[in-house]
Amino acid sequence: MTDTPSVAPAEQEKQRAASAALHWVQSGMLLGLGSGSTAAYFIAHLGAAVRAGRFQVQAVATSLVSEALARQAGIPLVEPRRGMRLDLTVDGADELDAQLQLIKGGGGALLREKVLATAANSLLILADSTKQVRQLGQFPLPLEVVPFAVPWVLDAVTSLGGHPVVRPDRTQPAQPARTDQGNLLVDCHFGLLPDPAALARELEQIPGLVEHGLFLGLAHAALIGQGEQVLLYRRGQEPQLVELPARP
Ligand code: A5P
Repeated sequence: MTDTPSVAPAEQEKQRAASAALHWVQSGMLLGLGSGSTAAYFIAHLGAAVRAGRFQVQAVATSLVSEALARQAGIPLVEPRRGMRLDLTVDGADELDAQLQLIKGGGGALLREKVLATAANSLLILADSTKQVRQLGQFPLPLEVVPFAVPWVLDAVTSLGGHPVVRPDRTQPAQPARTDQGNLLVDCHFGLLPDPAALARELEQIPGLVEHGLFLGLAHAALIGQGEQVLLYRRGQEPQLVELPARP
């Protein structure tokens, strides 16, 4: 998984951020593995390092797809258990702002992603530069909804000013997309969000809405690919240039 000139710039930025994230991994860690294309690059890099004997780690994945990728890559997987704390979860994002507030769930894995973000001592976000925004809200907010509750959830989020759409399945658009839990996904446009925390509180009151894609106060750091460089962002600090390993 190396950069090539034929790869789109955003993909190259994702790959560089994913490669830089290996600096955060140490032997003995229990890791959370995110979902989406950027997290998939990280899983591939991590798997190569594990197979080369560079790290001994264990992991839990945020989706069945990432679980399969990790298994193929040779990363040992463990089942969730009581008292489990992850050392580090590494995941992508659909949008992030300067406070490292996120919108996630474009890939539909927001519920398990939030579980493993919350169960981790650190959440490291990887993204290309197109994901950075001044204010969250251009990307429609993904919601995971129990199928029975969908009509009432659509009413409730509409009364909060949202424009909800039930997400269709990618390969069979006449059918709704299903999450790994068998729930449905609703993508809800609220417009720009001046107060994401207030919206999160409202959404958390709606019965049947299992999870929303606002990740507030969860990310500790973000590695963002910006052209040829990767920058490290931490809340309240100036971004730092990350030294990348020399290309072979
Ligand atoms: C998956 O449910 C999402 O939260 C992903 O983290 C997000 O969609 C980012 O995906 P890409 O890395 O593919 O852009």
